[in-house]
Amino acid sequence: MKVQLEALRKSAAEKIAAAKSRADLEALRIAYLGKKGELTAILKQMGKLSAEERPVMGQLANEARAFIEEAITASDNELKEKEKAARLKAETLDVTMPGKQIELGHKHPLSIVLDEVKDIFIGMGFSIASGPEIELDYYNFEALNIPEGHPARDTQDTFYITDKVLLRTQTSPVQIRYMEHNKPPIRIISPGRVYRSDAADATHSPLFHQIEGLVVDKGVTMGDLKACLETLAKALFGESTKIRLRPHHFPFTEPSCEVDVSCFRCGGKGCPMCKGEGWIEILGAGMVHPQVLRNGGIDPEEYSGFAFGVGLERIALFRFHIDDIRLFYENDMRFLSQF
Ligand code: DAH
Repeated sequence: MKVQLEALRKSAAEKIAAAKSRADLEALRIAYLGKKGELTAILKQMGKLSAEERPVMGQLANEARAFIEEAITASDNELKEKEKAARLKAETLDVTMPGKQIELGHKHPLSIVLDEVKDIFIGMGFSIASGPEIELDYYNFEALNIPEGHPARDTQDTFYITDKVLLRTQTSPVQIRYMEHNKPPIRIISPGRVYRSDAADATHSPLFHQIEGLVVDKGVTMGDLKACLETLAKALFGESTKIRLRPHHFPFTEPSCEVDVSCFRCGGKGCPMCKGEGWIEILGAGMVHPQVLRNGGIDPEEYSGFAFGVGLERIALFRFHIDDIRLFYENDMRFLSQF
Protein backbone atom coordinates (compact mmCIF):
# COMPACT_ATOMS: atom_id res chain seq x y z
CA MET A 1 0.00 0.00 0.00
CA LYS A 2 2.79 2.32 0.86
CA VAL A 3 4.32 1.71 -2.55
CA GLN A 4 0.96 2.28 -4.20
CA LEU A 5 0.56 5.59 -2.36
CA GLU A 6 4.05 6.72 -3.38
CA ALA A 7 3.35 5.80 -7.03
CA LEU A 8 0.03 7.68 -6.81
CA ARG A 9 1.74 10.85 -5.53
CA LYS A 10 4.36 10.65 -8.24
CA SER A 11 1.96 10.13 -11.14
CA ALA A 12 -0.41 12.81 -9.81
CA ALA A 13 2.44 15.30 -9.49
CA GLU A 14 3.52 14.67 -13.10
CA LYS A 15 0.03 14.92 -14.56
CA ILE A 16 -0.80 18.05 -12.58
CA ALA A 17 2.38 19.69 -13.78
CA ALA A 18 1.46 18.82 -17.37
CA ALA A 19 -2.17 20.10 -17.10
CA LYS A 20 -2.87 22.81 -19.67
CA SER A 21 -6.19 24.13 -18.44
CA ARG A 22 -8.29 24.44 -15.33
CA ALA A 23 -10.69 21.93 -16.83
CA ASP A 24 -7.82 19.40 -17.08
CA LEU A 25 -7.10 19.97 -13.39
CA GLU A 26 -10.68 19.38 -12.40
CA ALA A 27 -10.62 16.09 -14.35
CA LEU A 28 -7.45 15.08 -12.48
CA ARG A 29 -8.99 15.95 -9.12
CA ILE A 30 -11.90 13.64 -9.86
CA ALA A 31 -9.61 10.89 -11.20
CA TYR A 32 -7.42 10.89 -8.09
CA LEU A 33 -9.56 12.12 -5.21
CA GLY A 34 -13.16 11.52 -6.38
CA LYS A 35 -15.48 8.86 -4.89
CA LYS A 36 -14.47 6.46 -7.64
CA GLY A 37 -10.93 7.84 -7.79
CA GLU A 38 -7.61 6.07 -7.38
CA LEU A 39 -7.00 7.12 -3.77
CA THR A 40 -10.42 5.77 -2.74
CA ALA A 41 -9.59 2.53 -4.50
CA ILE A 42 -6.37 2.22 -2.45
CA LEU A 43 -8.16 3.08 0.80
CA LYS A 44 -10.58 0.23 0.18
CA GLN A 45 -7.71 -2.16 0.92
CA MET A 46 -7.36 -0.76 4.47
CA GLY A 47 -9.62 -3.55 5.80
CA LYS A 48 -6.92 -6.12 5.03
CA LEU A 49 -4.35 -4.37 7.26
CA SER A 50 -3.51 -5.20 10.83
CA ALA A 51 -4.56 -2.92 13.69
CA GLU A 52 -1.03 -1.51 14.01
CA GLU A 53 -0.55 -0.86 10.30
CA ARG A 54 -3.94 0.83 9.81
CA PRO A 55 -3.26 4.22 11.50
CA VAL A 56 0.16 4.45 9.81
CA MET A 57 -1.36 3.85 6.39
CA GLY A 58 -4.26 6.17 7.23
CA GLN A 59 -1.73 8.87 8.01
CA LEU A 60 0.13 8.24 4.75
CA ALA A 61 -3.12 8.27 2.75
CA ASN A 62 -4.14 11.61 4.32
CA GLU A 63 -0.74 13.05 3.48
CA ALA A 64 -1.09 11.84 -0.12
CA ARG A 65 -4.57 13.48 -0.36
CA ALA A 66 -3.23 16.75 1.09
CA PHE A 67 -0.24 16.62 -1.24
CA ILE A 68 -2.42 16.16 -4.36
CA GLU A 69 -4.93 18.79 -3.23
CA GLU A 70 -2.16 21.33 -2.69
CA ALA A 71 -0.56 20.55 -6.03
CA ILE A 72 -3.90 21.02 -7.79
CA THR A 73 -4.65 24.31 -5.97
CA ALA A 74 -1.19 25.69 -6.73
CA SER A 75 -1.42 24.74 -10.38
CA ASP A 76 -4.95 26.06 -10.57
CA ASN A 77 -3.83 29.44 -9.20
CA GLU A 78 -1.03 29.54 -11.71
CA LEU A 79 -3.38 28.79 -14.62
CA LYS A 80 -5.85 31.42 -13.34
CA GLU A 81 -3.11 34.04 -13.45
CA LYS A 82 -2.09 32.97 -16.93
CA GLU A 83 -5.66 33.15 -18.21
CA LYS A 84 -6.05 36.62 -16.68
CA ALA A 85 -2.82 37.83 -18.25
CA ALA A 86 -3.90 36.47 -21.65
CA ARG A 87 -7.31 38.15 -21.31
CA LEU A 88 -5.77 41.48 -20.36
CA LYS A 89 -3.44 41.26 -23.31
CA ALA A 90 -6.31 40.51 -25.68
CA GLU A 91 -8.35 43.40 -24.31
CA THR A 92 -5.56 45.95 -24.41
CA LEU A 93 -6.85 49.34 -25.48
CA ASP A 94 -4.45 51.69 -27.20
CA VAL A 95 -5.68 55.07 -26.13
CA THR A 96 -3.20 56.75 -28.45
CA MET A 97 -4.86 55.24 -31.56
CA PRO A 98 -6.65 57.80 -33.75
CA GLY A 99 -10.43 57.69 -33.14
CA LYS A 100 -13.05 56.79 -35.68
CA GLN A 101 -14.22 59.90 -37.48
CA ILE A 102 -17.95 60.49 -37.05
CA GLU A 103 -19.36 62.35 -40.02
CA LEU A 104 -21.75 65.01 -38.83
CA GLY A 105 -24.36 66.16 -41.29
CA HIS A 106 -25.07 69.83 -41.74
CA LYS A 107 -27.92 72.10 -42.69
CA HIS A 108 -29.32 72.28 -46.19
CA PRO A 109 -28.82 75.75 -47.75
CA LEU A 110 -32.59 76.34 -47.70
CA SER A 111 -32.66 75.55 -43.98
CA ILE A 112 -29.73 77.89 -43.38
CA VAL A 113 -31.59 80.79 -45.00
CA LEU A 114 -34.92 79.87 -43.38
CA ASP A 115 -33.31 79.81 -39.93
CA GLU A 116 -31.79 83.23 -40.58
CA VAL A 117 -35.14 84.66 -41.65
CA LYS A 118 -36.85 83.15 -38.61
CA ASP A 119 -34.22 84.68 -36.32
CA ILE A 120 -34.69 88.10 -37.90
CA PHE A 121 -38.47 88.05 -37.41
CA ILE A 122 -38.39 86.50 -33.96
CA GLY A 123 -36.09 89.40 -33.09
CA MET A 124 -38.90 91.76 -34.17
CA GLY A 125 -41.44 90.00 -31.95
CA PHE A 126 -43.03 87.72 -34.55
CA SER A 127 -44.07 84.14 -33.86
CA ILE A 128 -44.05 81.21 -36.26
CA ALA A 129 -47.37 79.83 -37.53
CA SER A 130 -48.09 76.94 -39.85
CA GLY A 131 -50.88 75.65 -42.04
CA PRO A 132 -51.70 72.54 -44.08
CA GLU A 133 -50.10 71.80 -47.44
CA ILE A 134 -53.28 70.04 -48.55
CA GLU A 135 -55.64 73.00 -48.50
CA LEU A 136 -59.21 73.87 -49.26
CA ASP A 137 -59.92 75.94 -52.34
CA TYR A 138 -61.67 78.32 -49.95
CA TYR A 139 -58.52 79.24 -47.99
CA ASN A 140 -56.10 79.10 -50.91
CA PHE A 141 -58.24 81.24 -53.24
CA GLU A 142 -61.78 82.25 -52.25
CA ALA A 143 -61.05 83.84 -48.89
CA LEU A 144 -58.13 85.71 -50.48
CA ASN A 145 -60.40 87.44 -53.00
CA ILE A 146 -59.61 84.99 -55.79
CA PRO A 147 -63.02 83.55 -56.70
CA GLU A 148 -63.51 80.87 -59.35
CA GLY A 149 -62.71 82.24 -62.78
CA HIS A 150 -60.43 85.00 -61.44
CA PRO A 151 -57.41 85.46 -63.73
CA ALA A 152 -55.01 85.20 -60.75
CA ARG A 153 -55.84 81.48 -60.66
CA ASP A 154 -54.20 81.02 -64.07
CA THR A 155 -50.77 81.94 -62.74
CA GLN A 156 -51.14 79.53 -59.83
CA ASP A 157 -52.32 76.31 -61.43
CA THR A 158 -51.86 73.47 -59.01
CA PHE A 159 -52.50 69.81 -58.23
CA TYR A 160 -56.11 69.09 -57.36
CA ILE A 161 -57.17 66.31 -55.04
CA THR A 162 -60.86 67.04 -55.53
CA ASP A 163 -62.68 70.08 -56.95
CA LYS A 164 -62.44 71.77 -53.58
CA VAL A 165 -59.22 70.29 -52.17
CA LEU A 166 -55.80 71.10 -53.59
CA LEU A 167 -52.10 71.40 -52.83
CA ARG A 168 -51.70 75.01 -51.70
CA THR A 169 -50.09 77.32 -54.24
CA GLN A 170 -49.02 79.90 -51.67
CA THR A 171 -48.60 80.32 -47.92
CA SER A 172 -51.17 83.15 -47.91
CA PRO A 173 -54.06 80.84 -46.79
CA VAL A 174 -52.35 80.70 -43.38
CA GLN A 175 -53.36 84.39 -43.03
CA ILE A 176 -57.05 83.47 -42.98
CA ARG A 177 -56.57 80.36 -40.85
CA TYR A 178 -54.56 82.31 -38.28
CA MET A 179 -57.00 85.24 -38.12
CA GLU A 180 -59.90 82.82 -37.60
CA HIS A 181 -58.33 81.59 -34.37
CA ASN A 182 -56.34 84.57 -33.09
CA LYS A 183 -57.32 88.12 -32.24
CA PRO A 184 -55.07 91.11 -32.98
CA PRO A 185 -52.38 92.11 -32.29
CA ILE A 186 -51.10 89.54 -34.80
CA ARG A 187 -47.46 89.29 -35.78
CA ILE A 188 -46.56 86.04 -37.53
CA ILE A 189 -44.46 84.53 -40.24
CA SER A 190 -45.43 81.21 -41.74
CA PRO A 191 -42.86 79.31 -43.74
CA GLY A 192 -43.73 76.18 -45.69
CA ARG A 193 -43.95 74.18 -48.88
CA VAL A 194 -46.15 75.29 -51.77
CA TYR A 195 -46.97 73.61 -55.07
CA ARG A 196 -47.69 74.63 -58.63
CA SER A 197 -47.98 72.52 -61.75
CA ASP A 198 -44.94 74.12 -63.36
CA ALA A 199 -42.31 72.18 -65.27
CA ALA A 200 -38.94 72.23 -63.50
CA ASP A 201 -36.31 74.55 -64.97
CA ALA A 202 -33.58 76.81 -63.61
CA THR A 203 -36.11 79.13 -61.96
CA HIS A 204 -39.22 76.95 -61.51
CA SER A 205 -40.05 73.89 -59.49
CA PRO A 206 -43.41 72.18 -58.88
CA LEU A 207 -42.55 72.27 -55.18
CA PHE A 208 -40.96 75.27 -53.56
CA HIS A 209 -41.06 77.25 -50.32
CA GLN A 210 -42.56 80.54 -49.28
CA ILE A 211 -42.52 82.56 -46.11
CA GLU A 212 -45.72 84.44 -45.42
CA GLY A 213 -45.82 87.43 -43.11
CA LEU A 214 -48.87 88.97 -41.44
CA VAL A 215 -49.20 91.88 -39.03
CA VAL A 216 -52.61 93.09 -37.85
CA ASP A 217 -53.17 95.71 -35.17
CA LYS A 218 -54.70 99.10 -34.60
CA GLY A 219 -53.13 101.80 -36.77
CA VAL A 220 -50.75 99.63 -38.82
CA THR A 221 -49.55 101.55 -41.92
CA MET A 222 -47.51 101.06 -45.05
CA GLY A 223 -44.67 102.79 -43.15
CA ASP A 224 -44.61 99.83 -40.75
CA LEU A 225 -44.46 97.46 -43.71
CA LYS A 226 -41.55 99.34 -45.21
CA ALA A 227 -39.57 99.46 -41.95
CA CYS A 228 -40.14 95.76 -41.36
CA LEU A 229 -39.00 94.72 -44.84
CA GLU A 230 -36.05 97.10 -44.73
CA THR A 231 -34.91 95.38 -41.53
CA LEU A 232 -35.21 92.01 -43.29
CA ALA A 233 -33.28 93.18 -46.36
CA LYS A 234 -30.43 94.71 -44.36
CA ALA A 235 -30.12 91.63 -42.16
CA LEU A 236 -30.04 89.30 -45.18
CA PHE A 237 -28.01 91.29 -47.68
CA GLY A 238 -26.00 93.79 -45.62
CA GLU A 239 -26.46 97.12 -43.83
CA SER A 240 -26.02 99.23 -46.96
CA THR A 241 -28.96 97.54 -48.72
CA LYS A 242 -31.79 99.81 -49.80
CA ILE A 243 -35.32 98.73 -50.64
CA ARG A 244 -37.79 100.07 -53.20
CA LEU A 245 -41.56 99.55 -53.20
CA ARG A 246 -43.07 99.32 -56.68
CA PRO A 247 -46.86 99.49 -57.18
CA HIS A 248 -48.30 96.09 -58.08
CA HIS A 249 -51.52 94.14 -57.75
CA PHE A 250 -52.43 91.24 -55.52
CA PRO A 251 -56.08 90.37 -54.95
CA PHE A 252 -55.64 90.10 -51.18
CA THR A 253 -53.82 93.38 -50.51
CA GLU A 254 -54.74 96.99 -51.23
CA PRO A 255 -52.55 98.81 -51.99
CA SER A 256 -50.07 96.16 -53.15
CA CYS A 257 -46.43 96.42 -54.05
CA GLU A 258 -43.44 94.45 -55.18
CA VAL A 259 -40.32 95.01 -53.14
CA ASP A 260 -36.87 95.29 -54.70
CA VAL A 261 -33.50 95.38 -52.94
CA SER A 262 -30.53 97.32 -54.23
CA CYS A 263 -28.25 94.87 -56.04
CA PHE A 264 -25.92 93.30 -53.48
CA ARG A 265 -23.29 92.65 -56.14
CA CYS A 266 -22.94 96.11 -57.73
CA GLY A 267 -24.63 98.19 -55.03
CA GLY A 268 -27.11 99.62 -57.54
CA LYS A 269 -24.89 100.68 -60.44
CA GLY A 270 -26.09 97.88 -62.71
CA CYS A 271 -24.40 94.53 -63.41
CA PRO A 272 -25.23 91.12 -64.92
CA MET A 273 -26.65 89.94 -61.56
CA CYS A 274 -29.36 92.63 -61.59
CA LYS A 275 -29.53 92.63 -65.39
CA GLY A 276 -28.30 96.23 -65.45
CA GLU A 277 -31.22 97.40 -63.29
CA GLY A 278 -29.44 98.03 -60.02
CA TRP A 279 -32.46 96.47 -58.27
CA ILE A 280 -33.56 92.90 -57.66
CA GLU A 281 -37.15 91.92 -56.91
CA ILE A 282 -37.45 89.80 -53.79
CA LEU A 283 -41.06 89.71 -52.64
CA GLY A 284 -44.69 90.79 -52.87
CA ALA A 285 -46.48 92.72 -50.15
CA GLY A 286 -49.25 95.14 -49.32
CA MET A 287 -51.88 96.30 -46.86
CA VAL A 288 -54.29 93.48 -46.05
CA HIS A 289 -57.49 93.93 -48.07
CA PRO A 290 -60.49 94.86 -45.84
CA GLN A 291 -62.45 91.88 -47.18
CA VAL A 292 -59.59 89.54 -46.27
CA LEU A 293 -59.66 90.89 -42.71
CA ARG A 294 -63.43 90.33 -42.64
CA ASN A 295 -62.97 86.78 -43.97
CA GLY A 296 -60.66 86.21 -41.02
CA GLY A 297 -63.25 87.57 -38.60
CA ILE A 298 -61.50 90.89 -38.00
CA ASP A 299 -63.25 94.27 -38.29
CA PRO A 300 -61.40 96.44 -40.88
CA GLU A 301 -62.93 99.57 -39.32
CA GLU A 302 -61.01 98.84 -36.14
CA TYR A 303 -57.88 97.13 -37.40
CA SER A 304 -55.47 97.32 -40.32
CA GLY A 305 -52.56 95.17 -41.31
CA PHE A 306 -49.84 94.38 -43.78
CA ALA A 307 -48.78 91.11 -45.36
CA PHE A 308 -45.95 89.86 -47.49
CA GLY A 309 -44.87 86.69 -49.21
CA VAL A 310 -41.31 85.79 -50.06
CA GLY A 311 -39.90 82.85 -51.97
CA LEU A 312 -37.29 81.05 -49.88
CA GLU A 313 -35.47 79.59 -52.90
CA ARG A 314 -35.21 83.01 -54.49
CA ILE A 315 -33.54 84.46 -51.41
CA ALA A 316 -31.21 81.46 -51.15
CA LEU A 317 -30.22 81.75 -54.84
CA PHE A 318 -29.19 85.36 -54.28
CA ARG A 319 -27.67 84.68 -50.91
CA PHE A 320 -25.32 81.95 -52.17
CA HIS A 321 -24.96 83.13 -55.79
CA ILE A 322 -26.57 79.99 -57.19
CA ASP A 323 -28.08 80.08 -60.66
CA ASP A 324 -30.24 76.96 -60.78
CA ILE A 325 -33.04 76.20 -58.34
CA ARG A 326 -32.93 72.46 -59.16
CA LEU A 327 -29.64 72.17 -57.26
CA PHE A 328 -31.60 72.55 -54.02
CA TYR A 329 -33.55 69.35 -54.61
CA GLU A 330 -31.11 66.98 -56.28
CA ASN A 331 -29.27 65.91 -53.12
CA ASP A 332 -25.94 66.05 -54.92
CA MET A 333 -23.30 65.93 -52.17
CA ARG A 334 -20.84 67.88 -54.34
CA PHE A 335 -23.28 70.77 -54.11
CA LEU A 336 -24.59 70.32 -50.57
CA SER A 337 -21.20 69.89 -48.92
CA GLN A 338 -20.25 73.43 -49.93
CA PHE A 339 -22.48 75.00 -47.29
N1 DAH B 1 -48.88 84.76 -52.25
C1 DAH B 1 -48.23 85.60 -53.24
C2 DAH B 1 -47.65 84.73 -54.35
O1 DAH B 1 -47.50 83.55 -54.15
C3 DAH B 1 -47.12 86.39 -52.58
C4 DAH B 1 -47.67 87.49 -51.73
C5 DAH B 1 -47.83 88.74 -52.23
C6 DAH B 1 -48.03 87.24 -50.41
C7 DAH B 1 -48.32 89.75 -51.46
C8 DAH B 1 -48.54 88.26 -49.62
C9 DAH B 1 -48.69 89.53 -50.17
O2 DAH B 1 -48.89 88.10 -48.36
O3 DAH B 1 -49.17 90.54 -49.39
O4 DAH B 1 -47.36 85.23 -55.37
